[in-house]
Amino acid sequence: MNRKEFLKRLGMLTVGASLIGVDVNAMTAEAAAEATPERPTSKTHPDLDFKVRSLKADASRAITAIIIGAGSRGTTYGKYALQFPDTMKIVGVADANNFRKKRTAKAHSIAAQNCFDDWQEVFAREKFADAVIIATPDNLHYEPCMKALAMGYDVLLEKPAAQTEKECKDILAQAKKYNRIVAICHVLRYAPYFIAMREAVHSGLIGDLVSIQHMEPIQYAHMAHSYVRGKWRDSKQTTPIILAKSCHDLDIIRWIVDKPCIQIAAEGTLMHFKEENAPQGAPARCTDGCPHEATCPYSAIDIYVRRKRHLGVFDLPDKRDEAAIMEKIRTTMFGRCVYKCDNDQPDHYVTTMLFEGGVTASFTMDAFTPWGGRRTRIMGTLGYIEGDGKKFTLYTFRDNKKRVWHKNVAEMAEYKHAGHGGGDHALARDFVEAVAAQDPTKLSSTIDASIESHIIGFKAEKSRKGMKKVKI
Ligand SMILES: NC(=O)c1ccc[n+]([C@@H]2O[C@H](COP(=O)([O-])OP(=O)(O)OC[C@H]3O[C@@H](n4cnc5c(N)ncnc54)[C@H](O)[C@@H]3O)[C@@H](O)[C@H]2O)c1
Repeated sequence: MNRKEFLKRLGMLTVGASLIGVDVNAMTAEAAAEATPERPTSKTHPDLDFKVRSLKADASRAITAIIIGAGSRGTTYGKYALQFPDTMKIVGVADANNFRKKRTAKAHSIAAQNCFDDWQEVFAREKFADAVIIATPDNLHYEPCMKALAMGYDVLLEKPAAQTEKECKDILAQAKKYNRIVAICHVLRYAPYFIAMREAVHSGLIGDLVSIQHMEPIQYAHMAHSYVRGKWRDSKQTTPIILAKSCHDLDIIRWIVDKPCIQIAAEGTLMHFKEENAPQGAPARCTDGCPHEATCPYSAIDIYVRRKRHLGVFDLPDKRDEAAIMEKIRTTMFGRCVYKCDNDQPDHYVTTMLFEGGVTASFTMDAFTPWGGRRTRIMGTLGYIEGDGKKFTLYTFRDNKKRVWHKNVAEMAEYKHAGHGGGDHALARDFVEAVAAQDPTKLSSTIDASIESHIIGFKAEKSRKGMKKVKI
């Protein structure tokens, strides 16, 4: 009898030891008040015992890496090297933006001859590090990655891996040809919350997995910043939003189901952020005396100047300098009226997926929410899981029990600055371990698994555009 069958036969009276922890304090007064005789209570429930791994890589040596694209993401991985300098050392940087190149060179004490203005210059040199971290815009992933692999570098590659299905497959083939490690930055796979959720599903506690409902709420101001005014507004220049924003989610669903997706259907439109919805008299920029500035939720003045959100794009020496922020929104793409941009990304998107064996999943991405993060519901033959991106509750039907997993990793000193629920730096740790040991199995987001979930995204877009189900 295997472990899953054993747990099933026990009728889930026990919690599997490998089954991640629950938080003792998770049964808050609020949650307790929620419990009724009909609804499960958590009083007698043992904790789900999940140990969150240290972020420090367990590697025999420090690896060396070059950051290509030292913007937001490149800097995030660079911070891992600063936090754990005896596991990873950044020895080179390439960025077209001089401010970012210099900032990175200074932070990592990079020699002047290893600082470049363009990714191509890195590969004009002999190989001088173990790995490259490719964190350039979506349209500059494929070429540097193909070149890096051919030169014998291992690669930490930001998602989406490439702009087309063919390019994704080329990268996979190139990695095999040169026998190199490619880790795609599907960072959610490394977040303790999602690791725990997947373990919970596979523990047998909820029986056989039947279906998943997963939602990615983008948050209205984030949508405006990135997918209406900002860098990912044009699907042709970057990637369709189902990949640019939601390849993580398709990947997580595929990872939890643990079976191939065989068919997908998608719907989605750009409904709101269009010229025809501009309020009367709205000028091209919020700063041009817009009569709706005081009431419009998408006002750039409100988002950037008053609320100081998403300021990283401006490279400001002092983020409290409101005059400098004002100047940026007067002169850059981020000050444009959201109804008068050159955007084409849908603002809501729905997909349904069928997996081998009959499991189904639905995924919804939506711009119009007050918060970001993820929301997930998982239905099994013997139980149910519901999660809000930080905490999830597992209910078992027969014994009427409720167990909660809730670890606030941000409160752990090591995890304090690790974004995506700790996933950013946990990925960096596993990448270091994989490269140091030359063992790709230390990674969860291997190139094979990641390209498979990217293909699900490309097929979703094909379905949306063609208005029909697509076989995978
Ligand atoms: N894994 C995740 O959760 C996640 C989150 C956000 C973004 N991303 C992805 O990461 C990538 C980078 O996103 P970002 O937010 O860091 O963007 P960014 O704009 O902050 O950084 C990209 C950097 O690349 C540099 N660059 C542009 N052209 C270059 C060239 N020819 N040579 C060298 N450098 C060049 C830019 O100057 C910029 O500093 C994108 O593909 C994005 O989709 C992933």
